[in-house]
Amino acid sequence: MTHSTLQIIRAEHAALSAMLRSIPLLLDQHRRHGSLPDFAALRAMLFYLDEFPEKRHHQKESMLLFPKLRARSPLQREQLDRLDAEHARGERDIRHLEHALLEFEMLGEPRRRAFELAVERYVAFYQAHMAMEEQHILPLAERVLSPADWAELDRAFEANRDPMTGHEPEPDYRALFSRIVNLVPAPIGLGPSR
Ligand SMILES: [Fe+2]
Ligand SMILES: [Fe+2]
Repeated sequence: MTHSTLQIIRAEHAALSAMLRSIPLLLDQHRRHGSLPDFAALRAMLFYLDEFPEKRHHQKESMLLFPKLRARSPLQREQLDRLDAEHARGERDIRHLEHALLEFEMLGEPRRRAFELAVERYVAFYQAHMAMEEQHILPLAERVLSPADWAELDRAFEANRDPMTGHEPEPDYRALFSRIVNLVPAPIGLGPSR
């Protein structure tokens, strides 16, 4: 049986991955055409990364899932420490990216490459982070957690679900999500497939 916590984590990773991959593709198209991207749309995407993956998904992993794994098993401690440290620096990395975007918007072409590189680094970092969770941490959870652990986790993970995984956004977020969904390629969003 697959626990809903695991399905939710994998679905949120897939949505985040699609969003992350779409940003360098978008930047690449603009570089080739010598045009400037839609800065407001890029700001919306970075804001989303901060609101959902950073503040909710990672919080639930670090505050709920990882402590249970540490309590049940001595395995993969180093990886859990590393993932926790990456969650802790996530917000700072987003601020850095937002600032690089602002520099590109305000100063134009001379700052284009710096923003592209900051995006590439961030995307590679997060893909590796999610791959480590899926390859090592989720299988460990399946082996060691108890039915009571799963019941508690499932309740928490089912709350505040990421609208990028097809769930109705909370009223405050509706406008933000309809904007983003038009930029991200199918099947996650409605934007053009590339
Ligand atoms: Fe994580
Ligand atoms: Fe995760």
